Amino acid sequence: MSDTEVDQRRSDGSLRHLLTLEALSRAEIERLLNKAQTFVRPLGVAPPIGDGLRGVTVANLFTEPSTRTRVSFELAAKRLGADVVNLEMQLSSRTKGESMLDTVYTLQSLHVDVMVIRDAEPGVPGLVAANVAPHVSVLSAGEAHVSHPTQGLLDALTVRQYKRRFEGLSIAIVGDIRHSRVARSSFHAFRTLGAPDIRIIAPPALMPADDEFAGCARHTSLTDGVRGVDVVMMLRIQRERMGQADLPDADRYFAQYGLTAEQLAHAKPDAIVMHPQPMNRGIEIASDVADGPQSVIRDQVRNGVAVRMAVLADVIGSRGGSIEGDD
Ligand code: NCD
Repeated sequence: MSDTEVDQRRSDGSLRHLLTLEALSRAEIERLLNKAQTFVRPLGVAPPIGDGLRGVTVANLFTEPSTRTRVSFELAAKRLGADVVNLEMQLSSRTKGESMLDTVYTLQSLHVDVMVIRDAEPGVPGLVAANVAPHVSVLSAGEAHVSHPTQGLLDALTVRQYKRRFEGLSIAIVGDIRHSRVARSSFHAFRTLGAPDIRIIAPPALMPADDEFAGCARHTSLTDGVRGVDVVMMLRIQRERMGQADLPDADRYFAQYGLTAEQLAHAKPDAIVMHPQPMNRGIEIASDVADGPQSVIRDQVRNGVAVRMAVLADVIGSRGGSIEGDD
């Protein structure tokens, strides 16, 4: 499917779609994070409920498996009073473009206002955004290996909650970077917010192309790469995006790139450990690190709902009216 260039903004500059973070300014990302923060509650405290999206219908169209992202978009929409429909579609790749658009036109006729789309093929969220009616917004929930903007935002929110600033921060992104949409979107968020030292750590076969991740130091040694960092972000081996021949041997991978307590000790003592999940325990991360005191993996999940509330409120609120949480 060809890449369709779509303007994410309306003519007044407000955000209509969220397909990629690349076009967002620092101020726009900060505005979304500030809004998201108003929706964050500690566990055990009831989440904020609003009615700012009353009368709005959100459709989740997922052609790739998802637990966290789909559930958190659904909860985010419901907590703001929207109606939600979930479609898990199995489409053959040959007919995907047309079938997806037919489904989208059907949903549009049913007064769906926001289409949340996850797809394994690049270009699908952009194709839908280029074809929907002017009042409809499209939010990417993960586009192939290309981008996952709400994950980038929730990762940035998590780092900000723990580190308070991006200036001066050293961040290591570790693992299957080549196939990771999370790495790409989080890198853009961290870089735009001012993180000066972002390192990517991967075996040569899982490094991205040379023209990607501009300005990042590249390491093939985990020990060297995590030395002195404030944030260690681990990634899942994306088996579904690899040929059989490219699959690393799990034990060897863990020995070289698995985050163990011993490897983590090379980072700053107060370094935080992140993972977008699903996690392969014992392959990219040791269980005791995933569940340990430096892990903020569960905060990432919690922040995912808050970020998706903020994005939904923003794209719908900017059609007219405003939707607020509180501090
Ligand atoms: C990620 C995804 O689907 O891109 N998961 C997620 O959204 N939380 C990462 C992954 O699948 O490894």
